[in-house]
Formats: sequence, C-alpha cells, structure tokens
Amino acid sequence: MGATNSTTKKRLSKRFQNKFHIYDNYDEFSNNNNNNFASTKRRISSESTISSHSTFSLDRCNELTKTCGNRKYFNKEHVRDIFPTDNDELKRLELTHTWNKELWEGQPFLLPVDEVFNRNARVLDIGCGSGIWSLDMARKYPNCQFTGFDIVDNFPLEVKESNVEFELGNILEGLPYGDNTFDLVFMRNMKGCLSQKDYTTCLQEIIRVSSRWILILDSDIILIGGGPLANQLREEVLDELMKKYDVNMMPSSIIRKCLEDNNQLSDIHFEDKQCPIGEWGGRLGTLYLEILKWATKNLYHSVSSLYSEEEYNLKINEAFDELNHYNSYDMVFRICAKKIVERRRSLKKIVRNP
Ligand SMILES: C[S@@+](CC[C@H](N)C(=O)[O-])C[C@H]1O[C@@H](n2cnc3c(N)ncnc32)[C@H](O)[C@@H]1O
Repeated sequence: MGATNSTTKKRLSKRFQNKFHIYDNYDEFSNNNNNNFASTKRRISSESTISSHSTFSLDRCNELTKTCGNRKYFNKEHVRDIFPTDNDELKRLELTHTWNKELWEGQPFLLPVDEVFNRNARVLDIGCGSGIWSLDMARKYPNCQFTGFDIVDNFPLEVKESNVEFELGNILEGLPYGDNTFDLVFMRNMKGCLSQKDYTTCLQEIIRVSSRWILILDSDIILIGGGPLANQLREEVLDELMKKYDVNMMPSSIIRKCLEDNNQLSDIHFEDKQCPIGEWGGRLGTLYLEILKWATKNLYHSVSSLYSEEEYNLKINEAFDELNHYNSYDMVFRICAKKIVERRRSLKKIVRNP
C-alpha cells in the first residue's frame, strides 16, 4: 500500500491550482441538457481531495496517456480503455450520467437505500472518471464518505464537499485498501476498460474491500431491432474491439458469472431494462441515441485499421439515421450483491467458581 508523500501532494496542488473545479450546478445541466457542463460550470475551493492512499504519482499517470492531434488516449500497452480520456469524452460521460439518472428514475439502486445511506457509510466509486457520481451522491448524502478511484486524474482535485476524496490507482494492480473497508463499492460503465480476465481480478478486489454491498451498472450493446447498416457496423466494430483489446461490449453475463461463482456473496439481484434508441423513445431515446453515436465516434482510434475516418463517420451517420427510424433498443442492467462477512464466533468466557 503506497502513500503519496507531502512533496508529491504539494506538486499535485500546484499543478491543479488553476485547473480543478467541481460542477456546481448539476441540476441545471440536467434540466437544460447543456453539453458544455464539463468545461463551463467550475469552481475552485481551498481543500485538496486527493487521498493520502494514492498509489500513483501524477508523473506515472501522465505516462499512461498520449496525445494524438487534439485528442488524448491511453497507451494501449498500459491501459486497455478503448475510449479517449479527454474533455470531450468526459462531457459524453456527464451526459450519460444525466440519462442514467433519468432512466432509473432517480433510483439507480437495487439496494436498501435507507440501510446503506442513512448512516455514516463509506462508499467507493471504481473508475470514477470526472467523479460526477460521487460528487452528486456526496451532496445528497452528506453523512456518508465517498472515495472516487481512477487511473487518471480527470476528477477534481479541489472540491467544496468535505465528504469526497479521490484516489489515483489501477484496480488491476490491486486496490490500496484493507479488506472490508467500504460499506458499498460501486462501479459503472467500465466495459470498455476490462477484458474477461480483468473482470475476475477487478471483481475479486471489489469484493475484498467491500464489507457489505456491491453495485454494478452497465449496458449491453445489442441494438435489438436495428436495421442492416447499424447491425453491420456494430458487428464490425465489436469484433475489432474483441480482437484488438479482448473487450466484450455485452458484459452482463461475464459479470453475473463472476459474481455468482464467488462464494463470499449472497442475494445477487440482476435487473435489466430496455433503453430505446432514437426519437421513438421520447427524451430518453433521443438522449441515448446521442450518447451512443458520440461513443461510436469516440472509438475511432480503436478501430482505425478498419476504416478511414471519413468512411467511418459516414457509416456512423447512415447507421444512426437508420436506427432512429427503427424501434430499436439496447439493454442496460444493474447488479447488486451482498457480501457475507464472517463474524468471529464470540468466545464464551467460562468463569469457574474457585
Ligand atoms: C467509461 S469511464 C466511466 C466513468 C464513470 N464510472 C461514469 O460512469 O461516469 C471508465 C473510467 O475507468 C477508468 N479506468 C480505466 N481502466 C482503469 C483501471 N485499470 N483502474 C482504474 N480506473 C480505470 C478510466 O480512466 C475512466 O475514467
């Protein structure tokens, strides 16, 4: 378990002095569907939120990424993530967060919410990205302590909430926490960063550091009811991602199997939901089409051996025009599990009469 020393911390604070902020008006973003949220709604406060557990220095973190043109990506040999790791991608993830909240009607939990959040729970958010979920939750549940964990520093270093901190590290190298540290471990939308083998490692770590609850949210990219152009593009792109990165864009069965095979878990609940793609699905369908199209565009560098960028963008436009006219949909899912924590049998003290 490494620790960030004070010199590194000072360096972090200095570097982020003018850069890190929090999104202080999420609801406004949500209501106005304002896609510039990531870059416009920002505020700095004086408290640094980087955790003293962090196993990564920022220099190490910088080695993981490379800039190509105006986009920033992970170096494939270090991190598998098929998406870029820049502002444009963060904006897409923030829109996804809004859509996700609306899709689950503000209740993205299969958990007994009162039991989990109405006490001083410790919550870990794996692959937190911009930290939007943790920040949102920290405001809603000020009595709970949230830790966002990610391999890159796209989260805010300085926030006003005292109950959020962020941690740099690679879950595949192990989480820098002891067993049973968190009441809830949450992971959302990580399918683009984990291979089948990685899921086993990642979920074992999640289960190890959880003392009670695990909650995973993601989606299967199936395009049910999609037309021929969309289906062909989906097949080509998903095949390439599988071949090149061993990434499966339909992860629900892998996650379920990993959890079901783990004998430390009980009460595994799986719930899936159709999410419409396109105008036929009203606001949710329109938002999801925008998110999916944006995600497909952002994948270009991962599938660039298949098409020129121009050809790829043309295919995307045709496929999504087509999707909009079919009543197609994808499946989103959430899985909740409870950890059985062994309690040491209390030893009865036998008092003998003299
Ligand atoms: C698609 S984003 C999801 C962000 C966030 N969970 C959300 O739902 O908005 C995936 C995140 O996982 C992070 N990530 C990728 N590989 C990782 C690893 N091995 N350890 C920790 N974080 C990782 C990426 O940096 C990125 O922020």
